[in-house]
Amino acid sequence: MKILILPDADTAADRVAGLIADRLRQAPATVLGLATGGTMEAVYARLIAAHRAGTLSFAKARSFNLDEYVGVAPDHPCSYWRYMREQLFDHVDMAPGAALLPRGDAADPAAEAAGYEAAIAAAGGIGLQLLGLGANGHIGFNEPTSSLASLTRIKTLTPSTRAANARFFDRPEDVPRMAITMGIGTILNADEVLLLAYGEGKAAATAAMIEGPLSASCPASALQMHRKAVVVLDEAAASRLALRDYFDCVHPGGREAEI
Ligand code: F6R
Repeated sequence: MKILILPDADTAADRVAGLIADRLRQAPATVLGLATGGTMEAVYARLIAAHRAGTLSFAKARSFNLDEYVGVAPDHPCSYWRYMREQLFDHVDMAPGAALLPRGDAADPAAEAAGYEAAIAAAGGIGLQLLGLGANGHIGFNEPTSSLASLTRIKTLTPSTRAANARFFDRPEDVPRMAITMGIGTILNADEVLLLAYGEGKAAATAAMIEGPLSASCPASALQMHRKAVVVLDEAAASRLALRDYFDCVHPGGREAEI
């Protein structure tokens, strides 16, 4: 894992947006894996700004989002499809049909999940997978105890995840109990993984992900098995890392190593 520690959330989001933009400029037909949630809003705002400035195009890219709530249709105000349209898709030049999310309102969610995994494979797999981090260590909606080999499937959300996401819904009881999510195995199959976490609320999960044992108790620890995982943190999220001096020595100020 490459650990880049930036001074604050803004510079961390700058770095992640810059890495995504660099990748799209080098390989415009990249298959992106995308995430939702509060963390990504600043990243998408920066990508939109680069597109508006004429320095970034999504015209040849394709994307697959990590997850969607079961029972939630794309036009639902709290759907992840709606989030993606508002936060990114409506403001950039992705081709019609190039962006996919699981259909939360599918009549057969298990079949939808299997079909989604097959669609990712048919697209040649994910080139760059963007990830946020749950305070409980989840990636996508792979909650603690998820199989580290899992593929896209239905997962029941933990009470803590439903509470964390209640801010997006009118009432806490409206938060769905289940989601279709890419599995940990799906995520590990991506060529590159780019995880962003900021804030003190992510510090314990960040330490468990990077320094803890490889364990389904912290699903993000599975990234220790990935050959090309980059983790971008702010100071607060990095505050519980025991090996902080080592990460500073390898990437001082969050800069790439100068070899
Ligand atoms: C979102 C997702 C989740 C979030 C995570 C962090 O598609 O799969 O894993 O990335 O819950 O959420 P925020 O950014 O809201 O703290």
